[in-house]
Amino acid sequence: MGDQAKLSAGDQTADFAVLKGSVGPDVVDIRKLYADTGMFTFDPGFTSTASCESALTYIDGEEGVLLHRGYPIGQLAESSSFMEVSYLLLNGELPSQQEMTDFNYTISRHTMVHEQLLQFYKGFRRDAHPMAVMCGVVGALSAFYHDSTDISDPEHRRISSHRLIAKMPTIAAAAYKFAIGQPFLYPDNSLSYTGNFLRMTFGVPAEEYELHPAVERAMDRIFILHADHEQNASTSTVRLAGSSGANPFACIAAGIACLWGPAHGGANEAALNMLREIGTPDKIPHYIERAKDKDDPFRLMGFGHRVYKNYDPRATVMQSTVREVLDALKVDDPLFETALQLEEIALNDDYFAEKKLFPNVDFYSGIILSAIGFPTTMFTVLFALARTVGWVAQWNEMISDPGQKIGRPRQLYTGPVQRDYVPLEKR
Ligand code: SDX
Repeated sequence: MGDQAKLSAGDQTADFAVLKGSVGPDVVDIRKLYADTGMFTFDPGFTSTASCESALTYIDGEEGVLLHRGYPIGQLAESSSFMEVSYLLLNGELPSQQEMTDFNYTISRHTMVHEQLLQFYKGFRRDAHPMAVMCGVVGALSAFYHDSTDISDPEHRRISSHRLIAKMPTIAAAAYKFAIGQPFLYPDNSLSYTGNFLRMTFGVPAEEYELHPAVERAMDRIFILHADHEQNASTSTVRLAGSSGANPFACIAAGIACLWGPAHGGANEAALNMLREIGTPDKIPHYIERAKDKDDPFRLMGFGHRVYKNYDPRATVMQSTVREVLDALKVDDPLFETALQLEEIALNDDYFAEKKLFPNVDFYSGIILSAIGFPTTMFTVLFALARTVGWVAQWNEMISDPGQKIGRPRQLYTGPVQRDYVPLEKR
């Protein structure tokens, strides 16, 4: 018999199995708690709840460790590519050279979208937030690809997964082009996944687009850093939507909507806007005090994390990538100095130290993306583009789980107990 956990409440006691993963905290299996005790657990925000079993990504928040299928994020960011990490997340192992060639070929054959889908953009205002466009256009994909929405068919799941990964760069680039009034560019499959995206975004029909190798490498690394992250809010949204049997296109659209929030994927846009508001390092102390003031809703965007109570390993890579890109582009962005000093001051402040608030993946990314030429409104779109492979891999893992069932949490009800209706004339 493995470890057991005992719950005693009033005159009741109940025993529960303790389950062990390959690494990380054990879990108490409470699936029969309600049946045995008539009680629920109560965990708003799921601070102590494991919602599923997964073999994709492991995070040790205390140590600042992030592994994808066992491989440390720092090694993947240094030595891998976004397409290789995508293959790893989807298939569980690093690809052989032939497997990598085949995967690149497969993805490149799905980069175009149905011509009618491009009509959707015309329905938006030019000043629509690109994330609003992404929610609409990605949600509409299921209206075009009926031949891959049967989630019980592994071949449908495979094709729809590849379609989503392959089409996100085309859809994201079109959202940017629409916003700035430039024509859409079709994919060029002679380029890498990331190079293709950069050309569709910044290229114009009037001339050849010259890819900057350092920019292509930095963009690819940023995609790697955003690929997957365990059961974060948007991934949990995708899993919950998928648990009802919704098609994968609709599930990913739900994930995009959740990612948009400033507490989650919207933080990269909010972090750069915050750095611009702070401006020069002499203003930092004022904003640090605001962040500590309970009566002030201001938070240091790009700081803090539900899981990391140490430095987010992705922020470490991101910070070194800032220098690479600014040097390569010969850009001198004073906001980088402001960000470095803000980090330094915050990490030496008791408030941030006690609450274990460190820079997260969103703190430095905006400086790089801005240097490359993206407007802040595109930052979360780029996060969604990269996270699509994680959402798709997590969705596939859930659908393939024989024990999978619809997610349906309960509640602690605090409303009125039963009472009788009173006719209007008697009120
Ligand atoms: C992402 O889950 C993931 O993995 C997400 C992500 C991924 O890859 O999918 O990593 C991507 O979303 C990164 C996080 C991006 N968000 C931000 O940078 C927004 C700013 N940070 C926060 O709002 C906050 O830190 C969260 C939302 C990220 C985490 O919030 P928690 O875990 O619910 O913690 P909390 O809000 O309860 O904060 C704990 C305490 C509070 O103080 P007390 O009420 O205990 O006195 O820390 C304080 C908070 O006020 N706090 C901050 C702060 N973040 C938390 N104070 C000032 N500035 C901050 N940034």
